Amino acid sequence: MALFRALNSPEPLPPIAGDGVLLRTPQMADYAAWAAVREESRAFLTPWEPTWPTDDLSRSAFRQRMKRYAEDLRTDQAYPFFLFRKQDNTLIGGLALANIRRGVAQAASLGYWIGHSYSRQGYMTAAVRALLPAAFDVLRLHRVEAACIPTNLASVRLLERSGFRREGYARAYLCINAMWQDHLLYARLRSDP
Ligand SMILES: CC(C)(COP(=O)(O)OP(=O)(O)OC[C@H]1O[C@@H](n2cnc3c(N)ncnc32)[C@H](O)[C@@H]1OP(=O)(O)O)[C@@H](O)C(=O)NCCC(=O)NCCS
Repeated sequence: MALFRALNSPEPLPPIAGDGVLLRTPQMADYAAWAAVREESRAFLTPWEPTWPTDDLSRSAFRQRMKRYAEDLRTDQAYPFFLFRKQDNTLIGGLALANIRRGVAQAASLGYWIGHSYSRQGYMTAAVRALLPAAFDVLRLHRVEAACIPTNLASVRLLERSGFRREGYARAYLCINAMWQDHLLYARLRSDP
């Protein structure tokens, strides 16, 4: 029922509260805070992300991003969130359940990033912990997948401490930082403890 409401309402998913964090659907008004934290974290993030287009941090690119997000939400293709520190409502990162596959799969891919100065403080662990119940109980997913480069120890630790199981190794799986890179494949199932 909640899924039915979420998918048939013009409203995005309601905000999700976690331990010290809040996840909510991105809005145009987030532009300045988002661009600032991405800019100051550029060197920290770019080794682990697809190459940033040259105009990525511009307001017009952000407007296009918001349009894409709205379309993804409308068509049940992806659920993007920005991550806020609860104590002062600072935008500190982002997560997405993307590449939603319905039908016999009921699966999604999880992606995430945090601003450099907010890293290693448990925020993404709290965010993933808060998001998974919504993924399974509201969006009715059966499986949440995630992939990371083997040398990305932060991501490996995050996934393992969040109950994801390592399922495989995919060669030249994603083009990250302008290189086709091998990835570890992880997943968490709705039925996992
Ligand atoms: C991966 C990422 C989101 C983790 O966010 P975070 O808020 O720092 O994570 P947490 O503080 O919740 O820590 C999660 C675990 O990772 C560990 N960790 C965090 N940063 C680490 C680092 N640089 N090296 C080794 N371990 C690290 C933490 O110690 C913790 O493990 P522990 O419980 O064993 O101590 C963040 O490092 C990031 O944005 N990295 C760059 C972008 C990226 O990698 N995106 C994902 C691509 S797959």
